[in-house]
Amino acid sequence: MILHNHLDINNLGHLTIGGIDAVDLAKEYGTPAYILDEDVIRQNCRLYHKTLTRHFGAAAFPLFASKALCFTEIYRIAAEEKIGIDCVSAGELYTARRANFPMERVYFHGNNKTDEDIKLALDFKVGCFVVDNEDELVALDNSARTRGIRQKILLRITPDVDPHTHQKIATGKIDSKFGTAIATGQALQIVKKAIDLPNIDLAGIHAHIGSQIFDESPFITAAEVMLDFIAEIHQKLSYTIRELNLGGGFAVRYIESDPVVDIEKNIAAIASSIDRICAERGIAKPKIMFEPGRSLVAAAGITLYTVGAVKEITGFKNYISVDGGMTDNPRYALYQSKYTALIANRGSQPKDYTATIAGRCCESGDLIAEDILIQKPQRGDILAVLVTGAYNYSMASNYNRIPRPPIVMLKDGKSRIVVKRESLEDLVRLDV
Ligand code: LLP
Repeated sequence: MILHNHLDINNLGHLTIGGIDAVDLAKEYGTPAYILDEDVIRQNCRLYHKTLTRHFGAAAFPLFASKALCFTEIYRIAAEEKIGIDCVSAGELYTARRANFPMERVYFHGNNKTDEDIKLALDFKVGCFVVDNEDELVALDNSARTRGIRQKILLRITPDVDPHTHQKIATGKIDSKFGTAIATGQALQIVKKAIDLPNIDLAGIHAHIGSQIFDESPFITAAEVMLDFIAEIHQKLSYTIRELNLGGGFAVRYIESDPVVDIEKNIAAIASSIDRICAERGIAKPKIMFEPGRSLVAAAGITLYTVGAVKEITGFKNYISVDGGMTDNPRYALYQSKYTALIANRGSQPKDYTATIAGRCCESGDLIAEDILIQKPQRGDILAVLVTGAYNYSMASNYNRIPRPPIVMLKDGKSRIVVKRESLEDLVRLDV
C-alpha cells in the first residue's frame, strides 16, 4: 500500500491503482491522464452516509461539494449513492441536470449569484439555496414571488473560527467574501430579514470554515458558535432553525507524514459535542449536514505523465519535466500543496533522487512538487502523482493552449473514459 489502500506496487515493480497497472493505463489512454478509482469514491460516499445516519438519523446524508470534481458521470454516481450535492455555478447545475441528478437534493452556493444564476436554479427547481448576502436574499425573494413559490434557503454565516489551514482556503473568518458575520451583528439582521420575506423559507444556517482540516476541534468550535447563534435566534426572534450545515473541509492524506484521517471518529466526536451543546442550551437538535468535497474524491485519483527532459543544474536542482503541470494541477503553484510522486514503471526502485517536478508552461512557478525524493527517471518513463482526485481537473486551465487531460474511471478491474481528452480542435472551437 502507498498512502491509501487502493495504491500498490505489483510484481513488475509497477504502480497499481485499484489492482490495475498504471503503466498499462498510460499506454492505453496516453498521458497526461487523470485516473479515478470509482470504488474508492463509492466507498467514501457510503462511509459518510452510514456515519451521518448513525449519528444524525435516517434522513441525514452528505452533500458532495462538487467544486472538488465536476463532470457528468460523477453526478450519476452521487445520484446512485443517494447523496446530495453542493453546486456553486450555473455550469455545475447544468452538468448535474445533464446527469439527471435529483434537483431536490441540490444545495446552490455562491457568494455572487447573478440574476441568470438565480433564474436557472429556480427553473431547475433546486432544493435549497445557500444565500450569501442580503442583495441575493432580496433578489431571490422577488424571483420566487413572480413564480408563486416559497424557496427553501440556508443563510451562509461566518462564525469566525480559525481552521489552522492555508490562508487561501480558510473561509469562516469575519473578513471573508463569504457569508455574513455573527460577531458584527449583521447575521442576526439578515436572519430577521429572511424570516420576514414572504417567498423565502428560512430552513437553516450554514458555515464552511475551511479546507484540509485534520482534526475535529475547529468543527466543534464552529458547531458551538452556530448552535449559540441558533439559541439566540430562538430567544430574540422566536424562530426555530431546523437545519445546520457545517460545510466541508475534512483533510486527506497527501504525503506519508500526513496523519491518517478517521472520518467516522471525527464525526462521532462532533456529533457528541453537538448533543451536549444542544442539551446545555436547551435547544432542539437541528438537522445536521456536512458537505465534503476533497475527502470524497481526492484519494481516488492519480495523474499519469510521461517524463520528458531530466535536467541536472550543477550545484543547484534536478528538474524532471513532464507533459502536464500547472494546467492540470495548479495546487502547488497556488498553495504550495505537497504531493507524493513516483516513477510508475520503477516503483520498486529506491526513491533516492532529489528532484523538482516541472510542467511545460512558460512560467517558472509551473511546478508540481519541489525537492522531493523520487526514483531516478529517464525520458519516456511514466511519472505518477498521487491523490489528485480533488481540485485538479476542476481547477485545470488551458494556459499556453494546453489541452486538458482525459479522465479514466476504473471499476471492478476495468477502465473506461468518462471525460475525453481535449483536442487541439476543441481549443479553437469557440474562436471566431
Ligand atoms: N462547502 C463549501 C461551502 C465550500 O466552500 C467548500 C470548499 C466545501 C464545502 C468543500 O470543502 P472540502 O471538503 O473539499 O475541503 N481549491 C482549494 C480548495 C478550495 C475549497 C473551497 N471550498 C484546494 O485545492 O485546496
